Amino acid sequence: MQIAKPLIWCPLSKATATAMSHDSMEATGAGILCALPPSTALRISSGQVITSVSSAVKEMLENALDAGADAVEVRLEEFGLDKIVVQDNGGGIRREELPLAAARHCTSKIKDLEDLSRYLSSVEYRSFQSVYDIASFRLSSYGFRGEALSSCCEMGQVEVASRAEGEDVGARVSFDQQGKVSCPVRSAPMNRGTTVTLAGIFSRLPVRRKVAERTAKKKEELKKVERICMAFAIIRPKLRQD
Ligand SMILES: Nc1ncnc2c1ncn2[C@@H]1O[C@H](COP(=O)(O)OP(=O)(O)O)[C@@H](O)[C@H]1O
Ligand SMILES: [Mg+2]
Repeated sequence: MQIAKPLIWCPLSKATATAMSHDSMEATGAGILCALPPSTALRISSGQVITSVSSAVKEMLENALDAGADAVEVRLEEFGLDKIVVQDNGGGIRREELPLAAARHCTSKIKDLEDLSRYLSSVEYRSFQSVYDIASFRLSSYGFRGEALSSCCEMGQVEVASRAEGEDVGARVSFDQQGKVSCPVRSAPMNRGTTVTLAGIFSRLPVRRKVAERTAKKKEELKKVERICMAFAIIRPKLRQD
């Protein structure tokens, strides 16, 4: 199954990526997962991204679609408060890049602000003033700030398992609150794709957790998750969501 305009996680070696010209960004839609320069990070950062179960699901779904997935499974335990699991069949994250996945302002989607300008001039849109102008324009990815997974780490316990194209076996890693690897990378038998798990959302924020545990709030969030899944299914008709 093919999605309308699949974004390909590009499992290139560093040397290949460096050799590639910046102009090819539009064609590949992705690059090496690395830290943005601090000045770029500051200009595009937006603070806290994960404020609810539904916002976590939305970010994870966007990452799955950015990785070219055409099948995504979303599992919630106790309305997502105990566990949110989003599993996709996208291009995956290479084992050596996995430890960077939840580090703040690490992204494979842009290398610096120039990448954004280049992309925008390539589609003849030159007058953007801020990241919000850019975001309102049809970019080739849903996100490029490298904040979602790091924000998930602030909110709970994050584990990412992934197997990239061409790898014989997958890899699994857990992250601490700062988005740093909290244990050695372990091998994980799995198909190509990525599984992101966020356990114990708000466990470090007792007041927010209490609010989220209210029955009405839990149901409201579940409705939002359903709506988000529906919305992605509508804009990506070939996407299968279980
Ligand atoms: N489901 C996924 N499949 C492949 N790569 C992923 C997935 N989720 C996250 N990543 C990788 O982790 C990086 C960080 O993700 P995130 O924090 O959402 O930042 P952003 O999407 O803005 O780059 C992404 O740039 C991507 O390289
Ligand atoms: Mg993202």
